[in-house]
Amino acid sequence: MDAEIVPPRIRPMPAGMLGLLLLALIETTFAQGDAKRGLYLAKAGGCIGCHAEDKKNTVPFAGGRALKTPFGTFYGPNITPDPVAGIGRWTEADFIRAMRHGKRPNGANYFPAFPYPSFTRIADTDLRDLWAYLRTLPPSNRANQEHDLRFPFGWRFLVTAWKWLFFTPGPFEADLKLSQTVNRGAYLVQALGHCSECHTPRNFLGGPKRDRFLAGGKGPDGKGVPNLTPTKLKKLSDAELKDFLVSGTTPDGDVPAEAMGEVIRNTTSQLTPEDLAALMAYLRSLAPLANEPR
Ligand code: HEC
Ligand code: HEC
Repeated sequence: MDAEIVPPRIRPMPAGMLGLLLLALIETTFAQGDAKRGLYLAKAGGCIGCHAEDKKNTVPFAGGRALKTPFGTFYGPNITPDPVAGIGRWTEADFIRAMRHGKRPNGANYFPAFPYPSFTRIADTDLRDLWAYLRTLPPSNRANQEHDLRFPFGWRFLVTAWKWLFFTPGPFEADLKLSQTVNRGAYLVQALGHCSECHTPRNFLGGPKRDRFLAGGKGPDGKGVPNLTPTKLKKLSDAELKDFLVSGTTPDGDVPAEAMGEVIRNTTSQLTPEDLAALMAYLRSLAPLANEPR
């Protein structure tokens, strides 16, 4: 009688097949990113600073932050999983292309106000974990604002020329001559932390001066930014440098400019002690460069 009722499809599966299915399940679970690690990486990448309005009770990652630059004002977009206002319809591959190649899903270029020239160095596994984390955010239907750019900087196709001149896509590669700690620090500074977006001087086209990496000068907002190579940083002891990066206190009791205050709040104060030590070890290992005129 049973045989008549139970449709063949749900008959018990042979044990071997069940094992295979389980294996497949485990594999897909591991191929997907780890959202908890992704949260840490989002902090190390300071994503929230540009992707949330600068006001009380702001919705994290719902966009709206105004980023003033000499080229005009950019507005960080909504990157919550809302299917219309955010990036809910994106695939993981869309996200990886955006971060690694600075391209929209439709192939158009992003403006480098989105620091993909640094984020391109993020490792594949970390990109997958970041994506997994973004998928866990509550969707927000906050609509994006158009950027307000000076002529002709609003033309996305001009970014093609900019990228050709100044953008080298590809993940960070460790320098095997350096210690693991210094390499970890280099990765945090160059890739996730995107410290050079402010601390490396730019030419008149907004391209980073490669031979002046982290030598200071003017930040994207046109205000002065200090040299992070030992020329300037050696005046701070390790304890003072750590204090600055964790709590924003300077030896003379000053409060850092807000641009850095935000990096301290969102990023450097959130790093594990090991990662912070690695970041400092890397800065200490840089070749000293003369201060860039401000
Ligand atoms: C310095 C500011 C800044 C930081 C930091 C930043 N972003 Fe963005 N991001 C932008 C801007 C500006 C755009 C829009 C660029 C454009 O329209 O061409 C953008 C675009 C994006 C997009 C594409 C959204 C869309 O609708 O097309 C994604 C995805 C994204 N950012 C993810 C991230 C992640 C993940 C992080 C942290 C690891 C991050 N961003 C950190 C400024 C920033
Ligand atoms: C949005 C721009 C911006 C980014 C991104 C940024 N900084 Fe800064 N940083 C500044 C500014 C502006 C100051 C100057 C603060 C002051 O003197 O009031 C500064 C100061 C510093 C100082 C103090 C130097 C000194 O001589 O006293 C250190 C150290 C530093 N930054 C490290 C970093 C690291 C590490 C990163 C990446 C994780 C980073 N910064 C990313 C803008 C930025």
